Amino acid sequence: MSEIAEEARVVAATDEGASPTAELHVDGLRVSVEGKPILDGVDLRVPVGQVHVLMGPNGSGKSTLAYSLMGHPKYQVTGGAASFDGQDLLALSPDRRAKLGLFLSFQNPIPIPGVTTVNFLRAALRAQGKELPARDFIARLGEEMTALRMDPSFRSRYINDGFSGGEKKRAETLQLAMLEPRLAILDEPDSGLDVDALRIVADGVLRVMEKSEGRMGVLLITHYYRILENLTPDRVHIMHQGRIVDSGGPELAHLIESEGYDPYISAGSAAAAEVTSR
Ligand SMILES: Nc1ncnc2c1ncn2[C@@H]1O[C@H](COP(=O)(O)OP(=O)(O)O)[C@@H](O)[C@H]1O
Ligand SMILES: [Mg+2]
Repeated sequence: MSEIAEEARVVAATDEGASPTAELHVDGLRVSVEGKPILDGVDLRVPVGQVHVLMGPNGSGKSTLAYSLMGHPKYQVTGGAASFDGQDLLALSPDRRAKLGLFLSFQNPIPIPGVTTVNFLRAALRAQGKELPARDFIARLGEEMTALRMDPSFRSRYINDGFSGGEKKRAETLQLAMLEPRLAILDEPDSGLDVDALRIVADGVLRVMEKSEGRMGVLLITHYYRILENLTPDRVHIMHQGRIVDSGGPELAHLIESEGYDPYISAGSAAAAEVTSR
C-alpha cells in the first residue's frame, strides 16, 4: 500500500475512534534486541475498557514488549503479529501507532532539554489531530496539573529535565491525561514513588479511565500490589523469560506479593501450573 493510502486508512480509523470492542491482539510475538532474542512468543489480548496487569521478574521482557508495541526501532520483531482494533501495528511507524490511539509511558522517562512541557504537549496533541484553541488548551492543562498536584511552574520547565523520579512519573501521567489514548501501556508508573505520590498517579490513571467511558484499555506493568488497590485489574499476566507463563484474576497479583516469582523461576511451567491451581 502506498504511503498516502496507508496514511488515509489510519486517519480514517482514528477519526471514527476505536470501536467499543477494540482489542490489542498479540500473537506469538518474537523480538530481538541487537541480535539477542528477548521475547519468545508472547500471546496477549487487552480489550478497551479493561485494565490488564503485566508482572514478572526484572529482565523478563516487559519493557521490551512495551517498546515493541510502540515501534521502537531498536526492537526487532522476528516473528508473530500485533494488532489493535484490527490494524496491523507492525506495519505502522510509531507516530501512526500513536495516531491510532496507542500510548506508552516510559519506565525511565528521558529529559528533552529545550522542549518545555507545555510545548511538548501542544505539539503532541496537534500531531494527533486533537489540537485545542490556546485558551482551552491552557485551561485543560491547568486542570490536569492540579489533579496531579503538579506545580504550575512545570508548564514551562523542559520536559523531565532535572525532574525527580516522582515528578517524571507525574509528567508521564499528565501526558496520558492530555492525550486520552485508546490503549495506554504504562511501564512501571509506580516505581520509586512514595505512598502519597503513588495514590496521585493511580488516581490520575483512574480518572482518565473513567473519563474514557470504557473506550480505553490499560496494560499496566508493575511490581507492586499497592497500585492495584486503586486500579483493580481485570486480568493479571506473569512474564518470565520472554513469555507469558501464567494469567489469572487479581488474586494472582496477591499471590506474587506474598510468594514472589520463585515458583515460576525455580521449576518452570509445572510449578506455575501448580500456583494457578491453588
Ligand atoms: N535496548 C536494549 N539493549 C540491549 N539489551 C536490552 C535492551 N532492552 C532490553 N534488553 C535486554 O532484554 C532483556 C529484557 O529486558 P526488559 O525488557 O527491560 O525487561 P523487564 O522490563 O521485564 O525488566 C534483558 O536481558 C535486557 O538486558
Ligand atoms: Mg522494565
